[in-house]
Amino acid sequence: MANTVTKGVILVGGPSKGTRMRPLTLDCPKPLLPIGGKPMVWHPLNALAQVPGLTDIIMIGFYEDSVMAPFVRESQREFPNIRISYMREYRSLGTAGGLYHFRDLILRTPLPQHIFICNIDICSSFPFTELLAKHSAHRGVGTILGVNVPKDTATRYGCIVSDPETKQMLHYVEKPESWISNTVNGGVYLFDKSVFDEIRVAMDKKTECAAHNPLIELDETLQLEQDVIAPLAGTGKMYVCETRDFWRQIKTAASAVTASGLYLKQFQRSRPELLARAGGAIIEPVYIDGSAHIDGSAKIGPNATIGPNVVVGEGARIANAIVLDNSVIDKHAVVLNSIVGSNSRLGQWARVDGEPEPVSDVKGQISVSVLASDVHVAPETHIRSCIVLPNKNLPKNAYNQVLL
Ligand code: GTP
Repeated sequence: MANTVTKGVILVGGPSKGTRMRPLTLDCPKPLLPIGGKPMVWHPLNALAQVPGLTDIIMIGFYEDSVMAPFVRESQREFPNIRISYMREYRSLGTAGGLYHFRDLILRTPLPQHIFICNIDICSSFPFTELLAKHSAHRGVGTILGVNVPKDTATRYGCIVSDPETKQMLHYVEKPESWISNTVNGGVYLFDKSVFDEIRVAMDKKTECAAHNPLIELDETLQLEQDVIAPLAGTGKMYVCETRDFWRQIKTAASAVTASGLYLKQFQRSRPELLARAGGAIIEPVYIDGSAHIDGSAKIGPNATIGPNVVVGEGARIANAIVLDNSVIDKHAVVLNSIVGSNSRLGQWARVDGEPEPVSDVKGQISVSVLASDVHVAPETHIRSCIVLPNKNLPKNAYNQVLL
């Protein structure tokens, strides 16, 4: 295995994705939203960069090149020994269409034997070494990271039935109508390079269907889950590697706050130098950007991420929250279970709070509060479980509302 060439692909999506993260994604594309003090895409990228012998990390999406370029430059500086690139789909091609479209670039020299593929919208320990060990043992075409979720939530995901002994995947159904398994697709895969043959088979099948049915539009769109993985179930080519490590989807603002906390906890073990030191008014784990200014009497944490140039005044309180760049949390203001967007301001004694992420979503109920960019909360005003669009002044209390 020592000389095996391995590459990593991260599916970053595009502007029409991440709608459940609005209004945050109106200003900041989802892959670049700060989670645990780092852009969301940094976490899988950093984990891939630790894989021995990995040569390339390719982000595939349909954002403009200029959106991803600064991140590509920065990460290339951070990981100079790995070739990092962004490949832009001319439009949304689905989770396998981009892999098909850019297959020659992914397979260019050095020819990889293995390719890791990860979704952007998950928070995970990305156990690539474990995945590689399992994959090397069975030598199928692919190994999928399987995650166990509570029975009542399983049908929201791609569900996997596998042989309990061999872990060969027997069935795969994307978001089934009724329960079939608690083991779900964790959005992380390891494939042999022969997966591109399977993707071609899927594309040929689609072309053939389109030839016989004028209602089917022939384009390069292809879904990895339904068009490639599901047909591989039961063929002996696809296996599951179940993890008990932390794993969450990052689809909503509430899940972003939870994910931020999970990554901060991971940093406590793996990168404590990135975190603010406990003690005084800091309750671990907390991330504070070096350019932020925090008054010594403000109480911060646990699970707080404070972005660049944020100013936090005397006696303020921030916990289970993300505060984005250039915002001001004035004296004695409180931010709990919330996200405060860029350039926002909470006046003195203002309070923005919410409920922590619920275990299962209750339709129409907002849990964490989200202030988009340039939102000003007047002094002594209470905002609870509200979603606030950009450029708003909030002069009076509001509860459980979307403020347009
Ligand atoms: P939803 O619950 O409807 O959001 O579905 P899902 O959880 O299965 O997620 P979805 O299929 O939308 O996305 C899975 C991953 O693929 C995410 O990382 C997306 O960013 C990425 N993705 C989705 N569509 C595309 C696409 O057209 N192109 C690229 N490059 N990535 C995509």
